Amino acid sequence: MRDQANSLREMAAQLMGRSAPANAVQPRTIVITSGKGGVGKTNIASNLGIILSGMRKSVVLVDADVNLGNAEMILGLSPKYRLSHVVRNEIGVSDALTASYNGLKVLAGDSGKYDYPTLNAATQQRLLDSIYESEPPNDFVLIDTSAGLTDEILFFAVHSTDLVIITTPEPTAVMDAYAMVKLVQHAAKGAMPALRLVVNMAKTPREAEATFRNLESVIQHFLHEKIELLGFILYDAAISKSVCAQTPVVVNAPHSSAALSLRAIAHKLIANGR
Ligand SMILES: Nc1ncnc2c1ncn2[C@@H]1O[C@H](COP(=O)(O)OP(=O)(O)O)[C@@H](O)[C@H]1O
Ligand SMILES: [Mg+2]
Repeated sequence: MRDQANSLREMAAQLMGRSAPANAVQPRTIVITSGKGGVGKTNIASNLGIILSGMRKSVVLVDADVNLGNAEMILGLSPKYRLSHVVRNEIGVSDALTASYNGLKVLAGDSGKYDYPTLNAATQQRLLDSIYESEPPNDFVLIDTSAGLTDEILFFAVHSTDLVIITTPEPTAVMDAYAMVKLVQHAAKGAMPALRLVVNMAKTPREAEATFRNLESVIQHFLHEKIELLGFILYDAAISKSVCAQTPVVVNAPHSSAALSLRAIAHKLIANGR
């Protein structure tokens, strides 16, 4: 997978008339996406970032939502710099990062801007290259995306090593997750990232399992792709309380069911790496 993603990057770089940086080794690049909004992407990305950092991993969390980025609220941060500064070349990535729990490094997104930054393939490639080139190298790059099925998201998706799709058990969310996989497959042209699913806000483990089985079977049947169940998180009021407290749930309620599930998901991500 890493080789596929690396060669895709090289191909993209060649298309843009330059070669990929020779020394850049791609860290695990985990894109967290869904199709549908409000399914828990930002909470999951932020908390996973903290857990992985706590496991002595060097982790960068990129809030790639340039319209309604809110990872900083979930993490209780007041970033000095954000993605728009990097995209406009006002600052390098390393200097734009804000430190969070366990040493997690956050590139904050943007919100409510009239002239929000457009991410095109060239700016996205430049962003990834500078993250990959930063010293000391990172183990994980987590990219939290906005809702929707935009070119921006597809670019990050096909450049990921792991595409972590979040869905709730609602059929609308499951449908959007399927649509996401279908478009990524088309864009990836045979170089698919590892597909992994998190079922969020399920009422019971059984409901989560059934949601996974449904999606797994349509993905297998129509797209001939495999998807792994990374884990599930039950509906847990501790998450919304933590959002209100602007303290991520793994810090605010470390013994809650959601925090336990998030830790299990992080362990499985590490165990099932490339
Ligand atoms: N497991 C959960 N249990 C209860 N509420 C949750 C859970 N996961 C997320 N939420 C709530 O869902 C809302 C959307 O979460 P968010 O992470 O912002 O989603 P997204 O990034 O996909 O738009 C938030 O209000 C959050 O508190
Ligand atoms: Mg979000």
